[in-house]
Amino acid sequence: MENEEIEMNTENESNSEKKENIILAIESSCDETACAITSGRKVLSNVISSQIEIHRRFGGVVPEIASRNHTMAISNIVKEALDDAKLTLKDIDAIAVTKGSGLLGALIVGVTFAKGLSYATKIPLYAVNHLNGHIAANYIAHEKLKPPYICLLVSGGHTMLLEVIDYNNIKIHGTTRDDACGEAFDKVARVLGLFYPGGPEIERLAKIGKPSYSFTKPFKGETHYDFSFSGIKTAVINLTENEKARGNSVIPENLACSFQECAIESLKDNAFRLCNELSYKKLAVAGGVGANGRLKEVFQKEGKEKKITVYFPPRALCTDNAAMIGVAAHYLIESGEQPVDLTLDADANLRI
Ligand code: KG4
Ligand code: ZN
Repeated sequence: MENEEIEMNTENESNSEKKENIILAIESSCDETACAITSGRKVLSNVISSQIEIHRRFGGVVPEIASRNHTMAISNIVKEALDDAKLTLKDIDAIAVTKGSGLLGALIVGVTFAKGLSYATKIPLYAVNHLNGHIAANYIAHEKLKPPYICLLVSGGHTMLLEVIDYNNIKIHGTTRDDACGEAFDKVARVLGLFYPGGPEIERLAKIGKPSYSFTKPFKGETHYDFSFSGIKTAVINLTENEKARGNSVIPENLACSFQECAIESLKDNAFRLCNELSYKKLAVAGGVGANGRLKEVFQKEGKEKKITVYFPPRALCTDNAAMIGVAAHYLIESGEQPVDLTLDADANLRI
């Protein structure tokens, strides 16, 4: 169990006068059981219990095991989040929970717990889209970031280029046609015999490698904003197999580096091309792959050249957490969204 210490709202404290709702947010869409207490863009506590060690031996998340562990962890995590914030349920104005997308069984644990808590305490309950949560992670550290801007959302389940017109008005310009970017990192890591989750492992290995293998960038010369990662992933697999058949072996650090560079180039090209076409000067990156240090370096360099301000959440808020769900809920409530009732269901395929 880990309690993330995160620096927040360092850019501007101008909202501190306004009394914001205090939100208790719950996230359980994949393999993190998380609860946070937020107020506006401020995070009062943020507790994450990760199951990574449990799933690692299986090479990926086992949905049934994830659900069971969420069930065992959730009440303690909620209690810990309240204790860390030095608050009790009497101080909470709203409960927020991830409704989807994610693993159905895992989502159901969070949704059911949140409904029970809301029923017992009469605190209104709000349902949050996990993807809106990832987008909201940037608001926590960047007080001045306000829509409209372009957002590249890169996670284990999604790769999307979004125009954030307003907090709750988001237009999709590009999406992946096959694997998500994080999914490709995880699959390539598996080919290289690395642990799950593969993203951080590929990043670690790539640091000592060179981009000596060349992969074709998908959709070269095309004008749409979609992504594809299964081609690069298959090229990595074929290369590894062919070398093995010849009695050779690949250089893992070079392969990790070459794959990472190719994936990042493809993300960079589309993201900056969209900013240029729609004349945006603000680009935010969100989601688990946003934790990648090389991605941040490449995007910041390109941003400087193109005079586009690039925003990243703090590393710990790129991957799944409940603080981002609380902040997304804050903007839902501000927009006049009504609380949900006990008929709320988890939705594994919820879209933006
Ligand atoms: O956002 P997230 O925690 O969960 C989803 O909503 O999917 O993203 C998890 C994904 C995994 O595929 C993981 O390998 C990837 O994010 N990831 C990274 C890094 N850290 C996590 N990918 C590349 N580099 C990283 N440092
Ligand atoms: Zn996520």
